Amino acid sequence: MELCIKNGVVVDWSGSFEGDIYIKDGIISEMGRNLNKHCKTIDAKGLIVMPGFIDLHVHFREPGYTYKEDIESGSRAAVKGGYVMVNLMANTNPVCSTVEIAKGVSKRAKEVGLVEVNQVLSITKDFTGHDLSHLESINKGEVKIISEDGKDVMNSEVMLNAMVKAREKDITVMCHCENHDLSKIDMRLAENTMTWRNLTLAQYSGCKAHFAHVSTKESMEYIIRSKRKGHKVTCEVAPHHLIHTDEKQYRVNPPLRDTEDINYLKEAIQQGYVDAIATDHAPHSQEDKKNGAPGISGIETAFSLCYTELVKGGWIDLCKLSEVMSKRPSEILEVNKGTIDIGYDGDLVLIDIDKNYTIDSKNFLSKGKNTPFNNMKVYGEVKTTIKGGRVVYEKEEDDLNDYR
Ligand code: DOR
Repeated sequence: MELCIKNGVVVDWSGSFEGDIYIKDGIISEMGRNLNKHCKTIDAKGLIVMPGFIDLHVHFREPGYTYKEDIESGSRAAVKGGYVMVNLMANTNPVCSTVEIAKGVSKRAKEVGLVEVNQVLSITKDFTGHDLSHLESINKGEVKIISEDGKDVMNSEVMLNAMVKAREKDITVMCHCENHDLSKIDMRLAENTMTWRNLTLAQYSGCKAHFAHVSTKESMEYIIRSKRKGHKVTCEVAPHHLIHTDEKQYRVNPPLRDTEDINYLKEAIQQGYVDAIATDHAPHSQEDKKNGAPGISGIETAFSLCYTELVKGGWIDLCKLSEVMSKRPSEILEVNKGTIDIGYDGDLVLIDIDKNYTIDSKNFLSKGKNTPFNNMKVYGEVKTTIKGGRVVYEKEEDDLNDYR
């Protein structure tokens, strides 16, 4: 299978050029100007061509909660957002605690055939908070990431033992930092104390630790300090924590914070301390949301929001955005993506960055229409998503939201 993308402005973490990309058998095989190929060709004139995005924090809800989302609806939403790979959380039903369940999810995602998935396993078996027996049987290389997601592991000895096991098996521990004893008292204290605990346990055990949806200035300060000391720590921030404050009164966990936190997180991105922007795509039904379920259906709006807020807002350039949405996430997941160069996967996204539109969750392909961003005017629309040299998403006719 061959595909040529011509005349686009090609942008990745390392820089940009105007020209053509030729993908053969799923891999970028040639790049340059005026490539003359007799194969399916896409004219990308006027568009930006970037490496497809990789989302380190996603809930597709299958198995168990498919009324909120399933692998098919989630995959369609992901490619509409320009994503080619997602890292799926384990808070499904049953909880994803076995390699068999993870394999089932990957098999279903392959059948759907739109995005690549990495399925995370829970840290404790079935989120019991203490049972680590399922980690014993994992072979090296079989599982990349374990996480307790919204639960976190309250018992420090259990967490330390899990981290030691993770180091032995070369698994990354993804930490949702929240001390549940303190959540009812102060959600900031709940995040900060657990970030500090998880950092110190990670340092002690020597495991690779990834800090999910960092939302407070203090947590980011602790992480920066740890990174400066050379510890194996990575972190992500979510688009909503870069835009809205708690004044918006939209329920998400961790909660929306203050302007001071937002500015600190943006500076941390600018200065290279943030490895990834991850959506924490958390689709819910209208009824669940009404009943207080925390979360935002965010995978279809992430690029536009980040481009508008961070790039047009003057905080970072498009290369830096590509680094945190593609390159560093692909390094954390250890996949051959995130860079446009010969030999990398032919996973690309074509974007009209001048296109201005209004977010309307009625247009979401995700089953979850829960977003605090409805009616927000944003720039940057995904036109085409290409996975392994195959078009997996193409924007259809322009809707009434088109301002140009
Ligand atoms: O807001 C959230 N929603 N935070 C989490 O940690 C879990 C997620 C969900 O699964 O809905």
